[in-house]
Amino acid sequence: MADVILKADNLFKHYPIKGGVLRRTVGHVKAVDGVSFELQRGETLGIVGESGCGKSTLGRVLMRLEEPTSGTVNFDGVDMYSQSGSAMRKMRRDIQIVFQDPYTSLNPRKTVGDIIGEPFEIHPDVLPKGGRKAAVKELLDLVGLNPEHINRYPHQFSGGQRQRIGIARGIALRPKVLICDEPVSALDVSVQAQVINLMEKLQDELGLSYIFIAHDLSVVRHISDRVGVMYLGRMVELGTEEEIYQRPTHPYTQALLSAVPVPDPTMRGKREQIVLTGDVPSPANPPSGCRFHTRCFKAQDRCKTEDPELLSRPDGHGEHRSACLFAEPRVIVETIDVTDLEPDARFASTETVDQDAFAGGDGRLPADATSVVERSHATGESEGPLDRPNDTHRLIDNDPAEKRDPSV
Ligand SMILES: Nc1ncnc2c1ncn2[C@@H]1O[C@H](COP(=O)(O)OP(=O)(O)OP(=O)(O)O)[C@@H](O)[C@H]1O
Ligand code: SF4
Ligand SMILES: [Mg+2]
Repeated sequence: MADVILKADNLFKHYPIKGGVLRRTVGHVKAVDGVSFELQRGETLGIVGESGCGKSTLGRVLMRLEEPTSGTVNFDGVDMYSQSGSAMRKMRRDIQIVFQDPYTSLNPRKTVGDIIGEPFEIHPDVLPKGGRKAAVKELLDLVGLNPEHINRYPHQFSGGQRQRIGIARGIALRPKVLICDEPVSALDVSVQAQVINLMEKLQDELGLSYIFIAHDLSVVRHISDRVGVMYLGRMVELGTEEEIYQRPTHPYTQALLSAVPVPDPTMRGKREQIVLTGDVPSPANPPSGCRFHTRCFKAQDRCKTEDPELLSRPDGHGEHRSACLFAEPRVIVETIDVTDLEPDARFASTETVDQDAFAGGDGRLPADATSVVERSHATGESEGPLDRPNDTHRLIDNDPAEKRDPSV
């Protein structure tokens, strides 16, 4: 039996819905509704599914950022939810998270050194001998950023570079497991490839195990050893990368695969398209029986009453876990492996934009710098140091232009 580092058993996370003047509980959002899986040491488990299917909630529960409604998480042989005090603190060091949005997950008022060094403040006992600054510089180097940029601010980095900062913070305490919640979804495809390559490099060097959350099957393909597909709070298919992409047996996985962009233009139009009808039902009131039956192209009467378990089912070659009463393999299409794409030249370098021109010599952002950039961008002015072909403007420019008063 392979070495399991993390095991989730029948995890549920239901959020109460309050209603009426008395704010009584009138129902529950079943964000995670009975999920079981295991993560092997050193592997990457991709978790995919449409928006709202419970991926982030699952990630938070696995880290004990939230308590589950029921179920257990076993981390490295220890029941996570029975731990408290210093034992739990120690466990928290070993399981860290990288968030989706590099634009909002980094505090804009803190330097990169403070952001990456923060975990050492919370866990001073793991600060390496050389001190915090040396540790942060080493981390910057490890993620491909210039250690000399330790005093810069997040806005002085591109999106891909910011995500490297988020990853550096995530690995600062040398965790055993890193939960990556859509770490590349906000990035351009070319930058996605770089960040995924970096994550693979770190996995090899540091022996990390990853849970890699994404809503797109094409993104997780390259990095994942195994993939779990979620629908409405449940895992509906779980298998190796090959099993999921080459012989998926669940109609939902097949539909997701058929929506993935085709890299080869000559193949476009030839591959099978499975269009899912209807919207995703509310997780507060999931359909009876198989909860996918309202959108499934293969649904039969039985599906409305029988709730299929995630069981090993034949896939034409061997078998792997699928939660479909009529599971059968279906070849859909080759998907994009983003690591084969040439990085965009603009992002090939890890050098940061020289901000000294509109920041103080110490790289600090003047208090009104954001509004200066926004004004220039909104009115179409471009002058002096702001007139550069980089994405700094876009990074700072979080509000749609039409929402702004152009006279400001
Ligand atoms: N704190 C909360 N209180 C109430 N409902 C919540 C809470 N957090 C999440 N939900 C609900 O739980 C469901 C699952 O949300 P979650 O954020 O886990 O989905 P997701 O798969 O990560 O989606 P996305 O791809 O958009 O990030 C959603 O219906 C969401 O509205
Ligand atoms: S059990 Fe029925 S509704 Fe559910 S996925 Fe299988 S065929 Fe579709
Ligand atoms: Mg999410």
